[in-house]
Amino acid sequence: MRMFDIIAKKRDKEELTAEEIAFWIQGCLNGEVADYQTTALLMAIRINGFSERETIDLTKEMCCSGKTLDLSDIDGVKADKHSSGGVGDKTSLVAMPIVAAAGIKVAKLSGRGLGHTGGTIDKLESIPGFHADLDSQTFKRQVAETGIAISGQSEDLDPADKKLYALRDVTATVDSIPLIAASIMSKKLATGADVLALDVKYGSGALLHNIEDSRRLAKLMIRLAKAAGKKASAFLSSMEQPLGCHIGNALEVEEAVQVLKGDGPEDLRQLSLSIAGEIIWLAGVKSDREQAWRLAAELLNGGEALDKFKRLVQAQGGGDDWEQLATSRLILPYNAIDEGFIDKIDTAKVGYASLLLGAGRSTAEDAIDYGAGIVFCHKAGAYVHAGDAVAYLHCQDPRQAAEAAKLLNQAVSFSKTVPKAAPLIAEIISTEDATL
Ligand code: URA
Repeated sequence: MRMFDIIAKKRDKEELTAEEIAFWIQGCLNGEVADYQTTALLMAIRINGFSERETIDLTKEMCCSGKTLDLSDIDGVKADKHSSGGVGDKTSLVAMPIVAAAGIKVAKLSGRGLGHTGGTIDKLESIPGFHADLDSQTFKRQVAETGIAISGQSEDLDPADKKLYALRDVTATVDSIPLIAASIMSKKLATGADVLALDVKYGSGALLHNIEDSRRLAKLMIRLAKAAGKKASAFLSSMEQPLGCHIGNALEVEEAVQVLKGDGPEDLRQLSLSIAGEIIWLAGVKSDREQAWRLAAELLNGGEALDKFKRLVQAQGGGDDWEQLATSRLILPYNAIDEGFIDKIDTAKVGYASLLLGAGRSTAEDAIDYGAGIVFCHKAGAYVHAGDAVAYLHCQDPRQAAEAAKLLNQAVSFSKTVPKAAPLIAEIISTEDATL
């Protein structure tokens, strides 16, 4: 077999066999296939597409390219969740403690933020003492004993994805639906959970901007989960504005804890409850979907989910002062430059504004300021006068605030009429749907 012929086949819009895909991925990792050949094939896939069968084969090959986690010796149903990336998206910090409070074992591997989107691991690391890099033995022991563990991914899990993602990132081939689906699902399948919730964002802050593409991605990932024998549901949820009001690591933990204490913004509460309820249903704790969603609300309202969150934090090194989160030196208002209803919020620009304040990274090596970020005073649809505070900027240096404000001026637009709200959850697609 020759890599040259495999590239030529995809260039000519032909379907690759499972053996050809295995040859490519193995060769890419052991150095027998050159990076320039892999990038040529990635571009051919990005342009000419990849069938569902090819995507299933690629996912399997990537999944077993490194170590996989075997959770089968832990009693009970194991659950995981993945978000395709968002701004202000702290849903995991609320939803997964609810799931754990329902008696389901939460074994969640998460990523760090990169670009305009945040990452769960950075958020958790803003808690004093919290350790997010658990080795697989410690991770499994904590899942078994505490019922919930959230850790960064080990280096040896899915090395094919690390290699391909790094090449895609610099060759304009990230935005390929089959490549994204294989990237996400190979990692999720390698972590061994039985039940999976996928939060696929749509809108200006999402990986894929238009809702049809996000729907295609969600459906494809659900079909990949089904082909692997997993129960999974995908939520098509809005990134037309940040989720909740807080953006930034410690600020997001603070807001998640508000929701766990029964307060906090309604959109974050709703999405977290829906995802938790769906996992509870998929795990079979309640056979009726509505009852499962109701149980999620009871576990949140009754404080059991907050207790689970505290146990998670304590198990991973957060001491008694875990609520003493990092803060920034300055808190400066960002004021409306116009009057009217807050209409469109370009969420990606808001994410970059938060990055400029110190809350994110431009490259994987950058340090982050855990206390930095943005707290919005209003959501889309609110009426403001010119000069009213729309948000507060948390940072170390007024120059950071000035740069972030310039971006926010472009991100937030105003209208004279009440804007139409994008649905928080546009659709739920499940392996359990008869029509899938
Ligand atoms: N997130 C991933 O894990 N992979 C992609 O390809 C895109 C987003």
